[in-house]
Amino acid sequence: VYSSEFELALGAAQIVREYLMNILDQQTEARILLATGNTQIQFLDALIALGGVDWSRLVLFHLDEYLGIKAENTASFCYYLRERVEKKVKPKQFHYIKGDATEPLTECDRYANLLKTQPIDLCFLGIGQNGHIAFNEPSVANFNDPHWVKLVKLEESTQQIQVKQGYFPNLDAVPQYAYTVTIPTILSSKKIICLASGINKAGIVKTALEEEITVSYPVSILRRHQNAHLFLDAHSASLLQ
Ligand code: F6R
Repeated sequence: VYSSEFELALGAAQIVREYLMNILDQQTEARILLATGNTQIQFLDALIALGGVDWSRLVLFHLDEYLGIKAENTASFCYYLRERVEKKVKPKQFHYIKGDATEPLTECDRYANLLKTQPIDLCFLGIGQNGHIAFNEPSVANFNDPHWVKLVKLEESTQQIQVKQGYFPNLDAVPQYAYTVTIPTILSSKKIICLASGINKAGIVKTALEEEITVSYPVSILRRHQNAHLFLDAHSASLLQ
């Protein structure tokens, strides 16, 4: 638990930097599954600013994307990651989910096959106020999901938050469906770095840590992972016992 969102971002970035430098001493390349969302912004900025990581040996993937959205749309996760990460660090490769793919089920298979053959060393996560990780909403989350990547319907509360954060002008403009990597895919990562800051996350953080592990709060499953780390600030931790 850090005193502020800035301290959290910096603390997590320092730990991730060290981990990446260590694994790149042992492997020729490493693979990261990145999250988007507001919580990641300061963390990604800090990680890039700290330096010392050889991004040319990193292969990057991401967790989710809206169905039907073009990469050039400023609300797309592809746009976010291109601007905030790819253009700044020039990774070895960035595998994006094609939001506007003409055959969405084929796109799920294409992305799933990439992930199956390239085990993930590190996964970054944020937490939705409803407990989702990636876009595994409580209504569609499955801890034993047979799929690696799937299409899901977004909950209205998730769509509303996207409007509130300014990514879309109104609820009708927010896509109803999205691609997401599934929970077993997230859990296959060797290390997970999950960030939650701000008072809006205090309720779900308390539930996820203190109540039972259940798909009603998908993030709670991280308690079963061997190497998952949750980074909080004073606000998101404020309801913990
Ligand atoms: C985004 C993602 C989502 C967000 C979550 C928290 O790629 O997978 O699960 O991490 O909705 O979003 P913020 O950080 O905006 O509160």
